[in-house]
Amino acid sequence: MSNPSKALRDFTYGLYVVTTEINGEPKGAVVSFVTQVSSSPKAVAVGLRKGTAIHDFVRQTGKFVLHVLSVEQKSLAESIYKSGQGADLPQELALGKTESGLPLLRDALSWVEVRVTEEAGEKTDHRLFIGEVVDGDKIRDGKPASLFDVGLSYGG
Ligand SMILES: Cc1cc2nc3c(=O)[nH]c(=O)nc-3n(C[C@H](O)[C@H](O)[C@H](O)COP(=O)(O)O)c2cc1C
Repeated sequence: MSNPSKALRDFTYGLYVVTTEINGEPKGAVVSFVTQVSSSPKAVAVGLRKGTAIHDFVRQTGKFVLHVLSVEQKSLAESIYKSGQGADLPQELALGKTESGLPLLRDALSWVEVRVTEEAGEKTDHRLFIGEVVDGDKIRDGKPASLFDVGLSYGG
């Protein structure tokens, strides 16, 4: 019998953390449904599951920071993933701020800051947030993680 879920899990996904700020509180979640969708203007798309805290916060604020994690940062991803509840971030994370004041994960490989310009996904369980890249930088050298490399999976 055919199995499209198995094929979808063979797609190449990266390991990212989305952060945003709500009422002065930093919030964040591990995500992998991420891709660049335009060069001019520079734009990316992120799929966030409807009904989750991070989905609601990004929809409310219309802005977020997307951080790229490296192959040796599976445990960092797990600490964020397991802290769970309401997209709260673990206390021990090294957080700075972008120029516009959004939470910046100092240990990431690189980051982009995004302003949401469009949404899609009326018929899907994740909503696609498409947004323009307004800032960003590389923090340090390293190998960007793929979910396959770090032995994690999502979706399918
Ligand atoms: C490897 C991995 C990849 C994930 N990718 C996504 C993603 O692309 N989109 C998403 O909405 N949640 C993703 N999640 C789930 C979120 O990290 C998080 O569990 C969810 O936002 C928690 O929601 P809740 O606590 O509000 O229920 C992923 C989790 C893991 C472990």
